[in-house]
Amino acid sequence: MTQEKLKEIIAQMTLEEKAGICSGDDFWHTKSVERLGVPRSMVSDGPHGLRKQDLKADHLGVNESIKAVCFPAGCGTAASFNRDLMRKMGETLGNECQAEGVSVLLGPAVNIKRSHLCGRNFEYYSEDPVVATEIATAYIEGVQSKNVGTSIKHFLANNQETRRLTVSAEIDERTIREIYLAAFEGAIRNAKPWTVMCSYNRLNGLHLSENKTYLTDVLRGEWGYEGYVVSDWGAVNERVQGLAAGLDLEMPSANGVNDRLIVEAVQNGTLDEAVVDEAVRRILNIVYRYEENRDHNAVFDRDADHAMARKVAEETVVLLKNDSILPLAEGDEIAFIGKFASKPRYQGGGSSHINSHKVVSALEAAEGMSNITYAQGYIDEEDRIDEALLAEAIEAAKKAKAAVIFAGLPDAFESEGFDREHMRMPECQNELIRRVTEVQPNTVVVLHNGSPVEMPWADSVKGIIEAYLGGQAIGEVVCDILFGKVNPSGKLAETFPIKLEDNPSYLTGFGEKDCVKYTEGIFVGYRYYDKKNMDVLFPFGHGLSYTTFAYTNLKLDKTTMADTDTLTVSVDVTNTGKVAGKEAVQLYVSDKESTVLRPVKELKDFAKVELAPGETKTVTFTLGKRAFAYYNTELNDWHVETGDFDIMIGKSSRDIVLTETVTVTSTVRIPVVYTLNSLVGDILEDEHAKVYFENIFQQYNEMKAAEAEAAGTSAGAEAITEDMEAAMFQNMPLRGFISFSDGKVTREMLLQILEQLNAK
Ligand code: BGC
Repeated sequence: MTQEKLKEIIAQMTLEEKAGICSGDDFWHTKSVERLGVPRSMVSDGPHGLRKQDLKADHLGVNESIKAVCFPAGCGTAASFNRDLMRKMGETLGNECQAEGVSVLLGPAVNIKRSHLCGRNFEYYSEDPVVATEIATAYIEGVQSKNVGTSIKHFLANNQETRRLTVSAEIDERTIREIYLAAFEGAIRNAKPWTVMCSYNRLNGLHLSENKTYLTDVLRGEWGYEGYVVSDWGAVNERVQGLAAGLDLEMPSANGVNDRLIVEAVQNGTLDEAVVDEAVRRILNIVYRYEENRDHNAVFDRDADHAMARKVAEETVVLLKNDSILPLAEGDEIAFIGKFASKPRYQGGGSSHINSHKVVSALEAAEGMSNITYAQGYIDEEDRIDEALLAEAIEAAKKAKAAVIFAGLPDAFESEGFDREHMRMPECQNELIRRVTEVQPNTVVVLHNGSPVEMPWADSVKGIIEAYLGGQAIGEVVCDILFGKVNPSGKLAETFPIKLEDNPSYLTGFGEKDCVKYTEGIFVGYRYYDKKNMDVLFPFGHGLSYTTFAYTNLKLDKTTMADTDTLTVSVDVTNTGKVAGKEAVQLYVSDKESTVLRPVKELKDFAKVELAPGETKTVTFTLGKRAFAYYNTELNDWHVETGDFDIMIGKSSRDIVLTETVTVTSTVRIPVVYTLNSLVGDILEDEHAKVYFENIFQQYNEMKAAEAEAAGTSAGAEAITEDMEAAMFQNMPLRGFISFSDGKVTREMLLQILEQLNAK
């Protein structure tokens, strides 16, 4: 529908009808206006499957939804590091929505994993904004290619479940820009999601649902966003303020209450009717975009989509450890131990919960592949060590050639709605692993969990497979990987620390009362562990393969550039092993010297390549200004400091294999105002400023040298080293010359120079 036509329709609406459009008709629909032919439109969760509720609705996944297909959750899909695959998954989901009459799929969920304990980390992608925004971009492009909208969520800084509707995330502007906003920015700018879902929480005191800075100034002003903003279900605080701030659609239904407040505000002059018109235009624009592009031939083929979920899961599994035990030989007697072998935990609880049309367990999938025995090992409903189950498991392990223990986190340990209290697995599972490894040296652990766990047994097992919450086909995929039919290629999109206390948010946790201070700033995930030079259990970007890859020929198309130029980086990757495989090539940038605090290195791009044995492919990356920049809060813009930057190619964040250097020159001068409190050291670093003080500095140094000579070799003089003198000089503010130059430098002299310098 043209914008003119849309405006005509809106012009015919009464104020009450327009206010009505700004909130849902019920839990999942926007309102219709029958007399004008405006249709109702359905939205549904999201993100990793379709949770369409036909009858009784809720946002916690309690009531039944239609049978659908559960894809791997965000924790896994990010680990694929595969944009093409994410696009295909999005296309499949978009087609399902067309077939089911759903106009907007509520996802992707891109919030940064600040703490390993956030209950919803399983839905989120990464601790790194580049991974989050790139995976989201591909997902959005895929879904929307089917003329179905997405809702990137939860905007912004919704990094915990604790007090999620009221908590205020207290974050400094640089950190918001570099970490939390950046997770959304690329996807919103490039993939243009039809809708953005604003989060429940407050940011620096103000509810996101009425935060004009982010909903309007940044989102629309800076990023040119044209879709509508929808509230998370129940996120509206003050409706009228929210509408004015840029929150278009309230969900679910406001039962008329907030609609009336909107009408009143227009009538009493506190809200401009044009604001209502604009929100209605944005909402109906999307409603019609879907309506006019309905695909009435779309079919939800659940079996075909299961096959797609399986294909996706093949790349979301991460092989964490392999001491020459995997793949297992088919035909060998293998003990599958642990309840998750027969009943995998493959998705998380809450609004993303899918009513899966079928689930295949590893035990079922292994039928015919090998000689498998099974022992339950533990009860997952409660964390209680059951000696009888343990004895049975030990017996099975003893008899077999190898044991595969299926463990991880039960539903009760992580979900939407609450945060985890610790990072441990159930004690009954840790004990099971300990006891089995005592009798069976060839033990592999397969983990089903949505976020990192502590692994006190990591050294005593030979293999660890992180299957994450891998969707309904995960059992088949785990078997394919165990027996070498699929070569694992996932890499961690998050760090696995050794213990919870290592986490940068540990001391501030989820806050006190309704306030949580993000004191770790930009040092989230590997940015922190690297800066502190800490050992981790498995680093960001880590993931093994059944083949080996060699990296050669790292080339930069230039060695010097301006911050306005782009840099082309290429590297050759060769499969040096015996089986085909896929590798996620990671590019990090490190600012070698900086006047601002920066991470040791940051991921700036990645690419997934598929290689036959012996095959080589050249991977090319293009880096622009943002790859070198930090967010400067004085400029309110991204800024690059002149200097050398290392371009690093890594197999993981802790396995950098090739490095080249480029010198970048800044084209932006940050205006500095010098005062009597400016330090000599800072002035000496500024080529332009130091000229103004050369005489004063020289005279002062000569005077000091003369004093030193006069003092001769007294004990006191000997204690003064050259370094110490230099440091004292550098750290002296200009006003120090007034006190220490024997009256030679006066306040007036300094003020005069400063005036001249600052005027330039
Ligand atoms: C969740 C959203 C979800 C919505 C609708 C909320 O509780 O935070 O992610 O899309 O419910 O179910």
